[in-house]
Amino acid sequence: MKLLVTGGAGYIGSVVTEQLLGAGHQVEVLDDLSTGHRDAVLEGAAWHHGSITEAGEILDESFDAVIHLAARSLVGESVAHPERYWHGNIVATLALLDAMRDAGVKRMVFSSTAAVYGDAEAAQITEDLPTAPTNPYGASKLAIDHMLSAEATAHGLAAVSLRYFNVAGASGSLRERHDPETHLIPNVLKAARDDAPHATIFGTDYPTEDGTAVRDYIHVRDLAEAHLAALDYAELSRHAIFNLGTGTGTSVREVIDAVREVTGVNIEAVEQDRRSGDPAVLVASGARAAAELGWRPTRDVRQMVADAWTAGAEHR
Ligand SMILES: NC(=O)c1ccc[n+]([C@@H]2O[C@H](COP(=O)([O-])OP(=O)(O)OC[C@H]3O[C@@H](n4cnc5c(N)ncnc54)[C@H](O)[C@@H]3O)[C@@H](O)[C@H]2O)c1
Repeated sequence: MKLLVTGGAGYIGSVVTEQLLGAGHQVEVLDDLSTGHRDAVLEGAAWHHGSITEAGEILDESFDAVIHLAARSLVGESVAHPERYWHGNIVATLALLDAMRDAGVKRMVFSSTAAVYGDAEAAQITEDLPTAPTNPYGASKLAIDHMLSAEATAHGLAAVSLRYFNVAGASGSLRERHDPETHLIPNVLKAARDDAPHATIFGTDYPTEDGTAVRDYIHVRDLAEAHLAALDYAELSRHAIFNLGTGTGTSVREVIDAVREVTGVNIEAVEQDRRSGDPAVLVASGARAAAELGWRPTRDVRQMVADAWTAGAEHR
C-alpha cells in the first residue's frame, strides 16, 4: 500500500514507519518536527516537513491510507493551554479529513488513547466502557474518535482508532526523546544514567498492592504491529475501536525494581504526594484486539526497560 504517516518523526511514528517499510509498503512521512526528530525518519520513507493542515498538498488518489499519529500529547500542557489541543488536534485533524475526502483516500488508522476513559474503575478497561476524559488532551482525542465515526457513516471512511495504554521500550536506536519527558520508564532510566538525581514516585497511598499507581505498559514494537493489523482490518463505512495494552498491570515500584535489575544501578526513589487526576489503576482488556485483529503483545516490562536502556546508551 501507499501510506501517509503523520507524526512519523515522533517516537511511535518512527517505529510504525520502520515496520511498514519492513512489510514492503510505500511510506511518506508528514511531520512539523514540533516534538519529533528528523533523524528518526528512516531513509526508505519520503519526507515532508509540514503541518497536517497541509496534507492536501500531498494526498492524491494514489494513497491507500493515512496512519495519523501526529498530535500534541502533554496532559499538563492541555490543562494550561487547552486551545493548543483544540487547534492542534481537533481542528488540524478536521483539515486532514477534508484533504482525505477531497483526494478520495478512504482509510485511516488513528492514535487514540486510554485517556479517553478518564478514571475508569474496571479492573480491565474494555472498549464499551463509558468515556469520560479528565483533561483537554483526552477530550481532544475523544472528539476525533467521534469525528471518525461520523465520517465513516456519512462519507464511507474506513477508520480504526487504536487506544494506546502506556507505551514504552525502543526498536533498535528508535526511542523516546520527549522534552519534557513525562513518562515513567525513560525518567527512571535517566536516574540510572545519572542524568537525574533520583526517580520520583507520585503517591504511595493508592489502594493497590504496594500503594503506588498501576499502569499497563505496552512495548512500542508490539504496538506498531497492531497498526499493520488495523490497516488490513479497516472496512469501508465502519469505525472500529481497539484498546492496546497487555492486560497486565505494573506498579511504579515494580517498574523501578525492573530498572534496577536491568541496569544494575541501585536508583534512589523519592516519594511524593499523588499528582491530581492520576487514577490508581489503568489496565486494558486486550480481548477485542486479540479476537478481531488477531493481535497479541509478546514483550514484557523487563524487555521494554532493557530495549530503552540499550537504545539510550548508544546515544550518550
Ligand atoms: N507515548 C504514549 O504513551 C502514547 C499513549 C497514548 C497515545 N499516544 C498518541 O500516540 C501518538 C504519538 O505519540 P508519541 O509518543 O510518538 O509522540 P511524539 O511527540 O514523539 O510524536 C508526535 C509527532 O507528531 C508531530 N506533530 C505534532 N503535531 C503536528 C502537526 N500539527 N503536524 C505535523 N506533525 C505534527 C511531532 O513533531 C512528532 O514528531 C500521539 O498521537 C499521542 O497522542 C501516545
